Amino acid sequence: MPIAHAVPGKNIKNVAVCRNKQFIDYEFCSSKREALTTTGFFFILFRGNTHMAKYVGILTAGGDCPGLNAAIRAIGKGAMNTDMRVIGFRDGFRGLMENRTVQLEGESMMGLLTLGGTILGTSRDKPHKMPVGGTLMDMTDVIVENYHRHHLDALVCIGGGGTQKNAYRLAQKGINIITLPKTIDNDVAMTDITFGYDTALSIATEAIDRLHSTAHSHHRIIVVEVMGHNSGWLGLGAGLASGADVILIPEIPYDIQLVANAIRKRVHRGRNFSIVAVSEGALSLEEHETLTNLQTRKEEAKAQDERKELRQVMDKLAEFETKRTNHTLHLAQMLEKLTGLEARLTILGHVQRGGTPSAADRVLSTKLGTTCVRLIEEGVFGVMIAVQGRKIVPVPLEEVVNQRKVVPLDHAWIESARSVGTCLGDCL
Ligand code: F6P
Repeated sequence: MPIAHAVPGKNIKNVAVCRNKQFIDYEFCSSKREALTTTGFFFILFRGNTHMAKYVGILTAGGDCPGLNAAIRAIGKGAMNTDMRVIGFRDGFRGLMENRTVQLEGESMMGLLTLGGTILGTSRDKPHKMPVGGTLMDMTDVIVENYHRHHLDALVCIGGGGTQKNAYRLAQKGINIITLPKTIDNDVAMTDITFGYDTALSIATEAIDRLHSTAHSHHRIIVVEVMGHNSGWLGLGAGLASGADVILIPEIPYDIQLVANAIRKRVHRGRNFSIVAVSEGALSLEEHETLTNLQTRKEEAKAQDERKELRQVMDKLAEFETKRTNHTLHLAQMLEKLTGLEARLTILGHVQRGGTPSAADRVLSTKLGTTCVRLIEEGVFGVMIAVQGRKIVPVPLEEVVNQRKVVPLDHAWIESARSVGTCLGDCL
């Protein structure tokens, strides 16, 4: 006669059917009666050691991007096939600090695959520098306390580079952390790709395609600013895919005279319009030099603990950023002056982060989410789930943090752009 163990405790969902003390299979039973009828004998284990329910928290932090809900769904649905319970925290680390939760079970997991944004909400708040009552406070201990108050066995943090860092800090406080890499910038280290990037790439490409026809009709230069923070993956990818005439990325400081020359050369060939795709973090040669000097001074001041110098450098860095607020507008105006062609600026902005995820992002989010469930079951923590080649692998968080993945100068996309005659701002 088989023996049924209800797992866990009062929940009769998973019943382990045994014969002669040998495990045979799990059965789904919705009540004690059903368990009895199914198995003939009934025995309840109250959260026994071998099949204890795992309580898993999940939050999304940093800028939103398409694919977040698909990842939440994959974790939520994947967990339903295990004895895992998933609880969501609203608005990133702030929700965990403030105990604002969402149940992520059953019906709430439906209709998420194609939904943009994040149903959990997000914020850029960091546990160790949280704005509370007008001041920045270290709320790490409160977050750790709340993790334990919810009896969590693991915390899934879905985010970009900043989130990986914050998650790592929490892992060092003894929390079982596992992370998923997302961002339209594709700049998270140790993973080939982040979800959100593919969708943003398509949106930016389509936008530039549309700008082509109007630039052509009006014989204009159109400067189009693409997001990407301080990396050029989005600008280079979209510029390449849309056949932009000039692509400017942070990794290659540009000489405006060379950009103007490239546009003038096109005019000589009868092409009196040009598309200039610029990453928001692109720097002119002069800006690059100023920034590098300031950053070196900052590092030196930090190393020698020179507080006054550090404050001055920080002020100068803030001034530098303020000055750059309209740098793409300035670029368009300068190109108009230097080439004699009318110029316009289009800033694509947050449109690149909105709406339905692409098929590739849905697949990636789902793969990362389901792998996450498996790794939690296996007790693998302190890792980010990364894509490396054709594999999905857990990478220790300490190998992810404190570095950014930028476009290598010998990357095949750079080579291809140059060989189809695209100006990258550094040579003719
Ligand atoms: O990290 C994603 C990103 O969209 C960057 O490309 C951009 O620099 C930044 O976020 C914008 O942030 P926010 O939405 O906070 O203005």
